[in-house]
Amino acid sequence: MGRTLKIALLTFTLLHCALTIVAKGGAMYNVAKLGAIPDEKTDSSKAFVDAWAAACGSTGRPTIHVPPGRYMIRNAITFSGTKCKNKGVNFDIKGTLVAPSNFHILGNSVTWLAFEYVTGVSISGGVLDGQGAGLWACKTSGKGGCPSGVTNLGFTNSKNIVIKGLTSVNSQLYHIVFVGCKNVKVEGTKVSAPESSPNTDGIHVQLSTGVSIQSSSIRTGDDCISIGAGTTNMWMENIKCGPGHGISIGSLGKQMNEPGVQNITLKTATFTGTQNGVRIKSWGRPSNGFVKDVLFQHITMVNAQNPIIIDQNYCPGNKGCPGKVSGVRIDGITYQDIHGTSASPVAIHFDCSAINHCTGLRLEDVKLTHNSKPATSICAFAGGLTYGLVQPKSCL
Ligand SMILES: *[C@@H]1O[C@H](CO)[C@@H](O)[C@H](O)[C@H]1NC(C)=O
Repeated sequence: MGRTLKIALLTFTLLHCALTIVAKGGAMYNVAKLGAIPDEKTDSSKAFVDAWAAACGSTGRPTIHVPPGRYMIRNAITFSGTKCKNKGVNFDIKGTLVAPSNFHILGNSVTWLAFEYVTGVSISGGVLDGQGAGLWACKTSGKGGCPSGVTNLGFTNSKNIVIKGLTSVNSQLYHIVFVGCKNVKVEGTKVSAPESSPNTDGIHVQLSTGVSIQSSSIRTGDDCISIGAGTTNMWMENIKCGPGHGISIGSLGKQMNEPGVQNITLKTATFTGTQNGVRIKSWGRPSNGFVKDVLFQHITMVNAQNPIIIDQNYCPGNKGCPGKVSGVRIDGITYQDIHGTSASPVAIHFDCSAINHCTGLRLEDVKLTHNSKPATSICAFAGGLTYGLVQPKSCL
C-alpha cells in the first residue's frame, strides 16, 4: 500500500471514529474520574450521585461509564429524572456495584438503586451484588428485629427503559422492580440468589404497561417473575426459571379496589425444580380485581411441584379473609404446548373462587407426567375447554 493511501485511510478512520462518538451523542461521565474507587471498600456513592447529576443536566444523550472493578455503594441512591434536560441517559457498566453486607445500613430503605420519573434510561452490562446473606440469616433465624430489606434495583413512574445484560445477585429483598412504568425492555438479564433466600423475587412488575422480559435466566428463593395488580400488555419470552417459586400473576385481590391484569404472554420458558410453574394467585378476600387474556405457551417443566396452578384461596395465617372467597375474576387463560415432569402427583390444579368461577380456561397440547406415569388434575369452580392431547385428563 502506498504511503499516501495509508495516510488517507488513517485520516479517514480517525475522522470516522470521531464522527461516531459525536453521532452517538452526548457527554461521557466516568465514575472513576469522579472519585469512585474499585476496591470494594471505599464508599463510591457520591461519585454515582455526581455522575447522575451531571448526566441528567446535560443535553444530548449522555453516558455514565463504570469501569471494571467492585464499587461499594453504601447508601441508597435515588436517580430522579424530574429535572433532567435530555431524553435519556445510558449506563455503561463494566464493573460490579456492591451493597454493604451489614443489613442495618440499608435495611430500612425501600430500594438500593432507585430510578424515579426517568425517561429513556438504558443500562447495559454490570453486576449488582446485594450481599443479602446476613439479612436472610436474620429472617430465617426467627429471632425477629430484622429490617424488611431493600430491593436491588427499582424503577417507579418511568418510561422507555432498556436493561440489557445486567446481572443481579443476592439481593436482600426483590431483585428488580417496576412500578408505574411504561415501555420497558429487559433482555439478557441474569438473577441469582440461593433457593433458601426469603422474598428474593427476581423481577416484579406492577401498575405497568408494555413491559417485555426476554432471554433471561432467574434462579432465586421466591418468584422468578411476579406480576402485580395493574399490569397490562406484558411479554415474556425465552425465560429460564429455577430454583424459585415460578412465574406468578399475583398475589392479587388483597385490596378491595384494585386495577386488573390483562394481556400477559409467556412464550418459551423452562421451569427447573421450581415450587410452581405458571401460577395465578389471589387472596380469598373481597376485591374488584381481575385477570384476563393470558397466554402460557411452549413451556417445559422439569420437576416443578405445581406446574399449572390457580390458587384463589391465598390467605397466609388464615387472617383477614372473611368468608375466604376471592372477588378476583379470572377469564381467558390459555395453556398451550406445556410438557414435562411434575414433582407432585397433581400437575394441574385449578382452585377458583366460589363466587367468581374461573371462565375461559383453555388447555391445549398439555402433557405432564409424575414419576413416569400420568399425573392428575384437580378443579374447583373452573370452567373451560380442552383441545388436542391433554394429559393429565382434564377436570374442566
Ligand atoms: C398485548 O400486548 C402486546 C405486548 O405484549 C401488544 O403488542 C399487543 O398490542 C397487546 N394487545 C392488545 C389487544 O392490547
